[in-house]
Amino acid sequence: MASPGEDPSATVQPFTDDRLGRCLQPFMLSQAQLETVRDLMLDNMERGLRNDYQNPSSIKMLPTFVRSTLNGKERGEFIALDLGGTNFRVLYVRVSSTEKGGLEKKSKTFTLPQNVIQGTGEELFDHIVDCISDFQIANSLQGKKLPLGFTFSFPCSQTSLDQGTLITWTKGFSASGCVGEDVVRLLREATIRKGNSDLLVIALVNDTVGTMMSCGYDDPACEIGLIVGTGTNACYMEEMRNVEQVDGDEGRMCVNMEWGAFGDCGCLEEIITFIDQDVDEFSVNPGRQRYEKMISGMYLGEIVRQILIDLTYNGLFGGNISQRLQTRDIFLTEYLSLFESDTLDQVQVRSILTELGLRSTCEDAVLVKEVCRTVSQRAAQLCAAGIAAVVEKIRENRGLDHLKVTVGVDGTLYKLHPHFAGVVHRTVRMLAPLCDVTFRRTDDGSGMGAALITAVACRIAGAEPQAA
Ligand code: GLC
Repeated sequence: MASPGEDPSATVQPFTDDRLGRCLQPFMLSQAQLETVRDLMLDNMERGLRNDYQNPSSIKMLPTFVRSTLNGKERGEFIALDLGGTNFRVLYVRVSSTEKGGLEKKSKTFTLPQNVIQGTGEELFDHIVDCISDFQIANSLQGKKLPLGFTFSFPCSQTSLDQGTLITWTKGFSASGCVGEDVVRLLREATIRKGNSDLLVIALVNDTVGTMMSCGYDDPACEIGLIVGTGTNACYMEEMRNVEQVDGDEGRMCVNMEWGAFGDCGCLEEIITFIDQDVDEFSVNPGRQRYEKMISGMYLGEIVRQILIDLTYNGLFGGNISQRLQTRDIFLTEYLSLFESDTLDQVQVRSILTELGLRSTCEDAVLVKEVCRTVSQRAAQLCAAGIAAVVEKIRENRGLDHLKVTVGVDGTLYKLHPHFAGVVHRTVRMLAPLCDVTFRRTDDGSGMGAALITAVACRIAGAEPQAA
């Protein structure tokens, strides 16, 4: 195989399926490899929960201080914020009795410019408060001091529901002055700087936890939250006796796994390819989030682009690499969903390739589809190996021969890709045969969930501020 960097014209020969197979082989995982990934995940989960200093786990297994689920008696009006992907959302949620309509929401999405997510923490939090103020004005909410749930989808070490120290940024965020700081304090300080006194921050919530909670509103068997979007992560209800980082043995607590970091200690070396290495090296956080970089939307397009370059050195596109294809991140993950859609025809595929400056034949278009299929299939299978570990852990915790459980899922890749969800479901059935797992997609799960968690906290504190 010619490697990137070699003179392509020197190596061009007619393209054969055999060479495609050789390029894609490292991305095809066997059942045995997936079982190993599942077992390694389980082992890392156990070590993460034990806080094993001598043999540290790559995943943090962070306590979330979410113990209680909804009991249907929650009432009130809430604000929820959702920060963690490409956009920032503000929601107003009114929780009332089913007779009075149940859940009602209004929301607005704001874009987050690159200079804001990679600038200073003050700029980022000031921008957030500006967006909230706009939303309050547009919805006549000024003067109402509403409890607020803050979905902040980054690893935070929490010691209570309304406090969390940012451990590290992920997914391309790098605002300075935030790592090591309590992000609730950073938000409160920004509200003071901006003179917005209408917000009462009650809960800090990871998007996985919000998703689990909002799915639990309709399905009490939901005890797992999964995100596959810009990033990937999962949470689940763990027995308190196993959560060594928090005192007490009674009941359960939701644990934010931060599974994106799985493999950062080197345990996935066997399956990591030279292209994964390159994607990692050129990312803003090299060496970190290795599992996430093989699964989530932020990275799959780039993996495909690099395989296409590799294939071009081997004769694809007549051996001509376009200028555009040489630009990092030019191949969007949305293209994977598009190319793999069963309704998109050859002409449409080729016209997208032309936009990328690639003059393709019909055969080239078929090969590109095959590359996309292989990369997204690996992502879905790896994600399923993680879920298989989680459901097995819950089954073992409870000493059950058979577990029935629901996973609440959110995230654009899972929702928009035509085959991702199907591969996840089939692979989970194969890797966790003793568990009957239902997947439920939630819309706006992370934001709604933050409002619901805030509602539960207010009910428990007996402080339902605005009866609805
Ligand atoms: C990243 C974050 C994690 C989040 C996930 C999905 O992995 O570290 O907190 O849940 O992305 O958004």
